[in-house]
Parts: sequence; structure tokens; C-alpha cells
Amino acid sequence: MKQGKQVTLAIESSCDETAAAVLLEGRQVLSNIIASQIKVHQVFGGVVPEIASRHHLDNVNRVVAEALEQADVSMKDVDIVGVTYGPGLVGALLIGLATAKAYALAAGKPLVGVHHIQGHISANYIEHQELEPPFMALVISGGHTNIVQVTDYNQCEVLGQTRDDAAGEAYDKVARVLGLGYPGGPLIDKIAKQGNPKAVSFKRVFLEKGSLDFSFSGTKTGVLNYVNSEKQAGREIHVSDVAASFQQAILDVIVAKTVGAAIERKQDKIVMAGGVASNSRLREMMKAACEKQGIRLYYPSPILCTDNAAMIGCAAYYKYKAGCTDSLELDAVPHLPL
Ligand code: KG4
Ligand code: ZN
Repeated sequence: MKQGKQVTLAIESSCDETAAAVLLEGRQVLSNIIASQIKVHQVFGGVVPEIASRHHLDNVNRVVAEALEQADVSMKDVDIVGVTYGPGLVGALLIGLATAKAYALAAGKPLVGVHHIQGHISANYIEHQELEPPFMALVISGGHTNIVQVTDYNQCEVLGQTRDDAAGEAYDKVARVLGLGYPGGPLIDKIAKQGNPKAVSFKRVFLEKGSLDFSFSGTKTGVLNYVNSEKQAGREIHVSDVAASFQQAILDVIVAKTVGAAIERKQDKIVMAGGVASNSRLREMMKAACEKQGIRLYYPSPILCTDNAAMIGCAAYYKYKAGCTDSLELDAVPHLPL
């Protein structure tokens, strides 16, 4: 099966998913195993770092063994060991990194450290086999909101980022205020379909003219204040309307800035990545805006949007192809810049 093709084993553990995957030639997924801790953290309404680390420790060896078994390869067949080394929760990252180092050292294979955001973007190379850089990327997840100009597989320029909450974080916090549960993004996505996005006018924060940065905390606080004042006045909260209006406010800004960046940089492709990229309203709005401008839009299927190791394996493959490997000294970097 291998027939001279590069086999990558990849591990991802930066937040609350323990994941391992095996890929052939960087873009063909042979296995993609994800042990989610969502249920464990649900009772706390968010990820508890120490608990996440312990669960990674419990799960990681089983997940890697399952990925190898499902792909029907042994460590002898593996050419590259890829792993997320940042950004993320330091304890969580360390578990994946130590495991990847152990596998690489024991089998004598090269280790390749991957930036988590580079991984998210690379999920699109798996989903869309024909996709090649350059393109404009919107990385939008629980930890990040970035507009990135991707010039080559290993080269990119960050044009904009959030100055406070990440978009997914704002979704999760608003969902909590509305009593919807955790993680809030998918729940808001669902309930907003029954709501009126024009019911409440929340702030759209564009920042200085020409800025591609984001700020969502004002909009989030606007929702909080609205809910509190309605409650104090004894009025009923229409959760679907508030959810739809909040979502519309932040997506109006996200879509305008991303499409604006693509036009300004003369890019004819926009690529979305990260957990929030599976949001149905975002996809709908982005599709309409891109069609209007003659821009092609790409995004991965939901399983490749949220954290997974297949995306990390793809990014590791392209780093390795460019001659980049890491030593066993590689450390976890919680605030790794792109
Ligand atoms: O990429 P991801 O799994 O983890 C990070 O790297 O942060 O993203 C998780 C985030 C959570 O905030 C979750 O609420 C959000 O993605 N999310 C969504 C949707 N699905 C996941 N947000 C809005 N709509 C969705 N359908
Ligand atoms: Zn992520």
C-alpha cells in the first residue's frame, strides 16, 4: 500500500481533543482518531486545563495505537512524526509532544513540530485535493480569529487578528449567558435558524479604517447587558432572536473584512478553517459575498474544521518536504506566533 509514498503519523493535543492520524503523501487520510473531552468539560462550562492534561495522558497512547491500527501501518512504515507544539494549553501540548518524541526516538523517525493554525489551514488541502496556495485564509476557532495571507505551503502573513475574544470564545460565552450549554457555537448556530437576525441591533465593531483586526468583546457585552436589562424589566428573552442577532453582528464584520482583504490583495480564493468555519450562517454569507466578487470559497467538512490530527499531519508533511525537521529538544510554546 505504501509503495514509496510518505507516511505521516500526527498527534494533536493542544486543547480538549486527543487526536492521532496517519496520512499518505500528506493529503490522503488513512486514519483520523479523535478522543473528545467535551463531555468532561461540559459541567464546568469550558475547558479546565489541568483536567484536559490528565485526560490527554489517559488517552494518548490508545489513540495513537488505534490510528496506526486503523491505517494498517506499523512504526516501521512511518516516515514522519508530526505534532502540534503550539499555541495551546501548555500541559495539554506537552502530553502530545512527549508522546510524539517518544515514538520518533524509538523508531528513529524525524520529528516535525506544527503550528496549530497552520494545521487548521491545511485541513483544506485534505478536503480539496486540487487546492494550492496562494489564497486568503480566515482562521476562526475557539482560540483564534485571524485573517492570513497564505503565499505558499510554509509561508504566510498574518494581516489581522482579534484584540480580545476569539470568535468561538464569544459564541461560547454568549451561549452561556443564554443558558444554552457548552460548546456554545453549534448550539447558537442551530437555535439562530429559528430567530430573527434583525430583532436586536448589537454593535458591529470595525475598528480603525483599513484595520483587519477584530474585537468581539463589545458585542458580547452588549448581549450580556441586553439580557440583564430585559430580565430586570420583567420581559421574556427570545433566545433564538438574541442568538440570531448576535451571530449576525459578528458575522457581518468577519465576512466584510475577509472578503475586503481578498479583494485588496487580489486573491481569487478564500479558505476558511477552524471550529467556527462549520457555522452554517457564516458559510451562507461567505458564499453569497464570494459569488458576488468572483472569489472561490473553500472550507473543510465539520470533522476537519474542529481540532483533529489529520490537519497536523498534512502541515507536517509540507514542512518536511521543505526540509524542516525538529530536534527532540523541541518545547511546547503556549503563545507561539504564526
Ligand atoms: O477549532 P476548534 O475545535 O478549537 C480551537 O482551536 O479553538 O474550535 C472550537 C470552537 C468552539 O468555540 C465552538 O463553539 C466553535 O468552535 N464552533 C462553532 C460551531 N462549531 C464549533 N461556532 C459556531 N458555529 C458552529 N457550528
Ligand atoms: Zn483548533
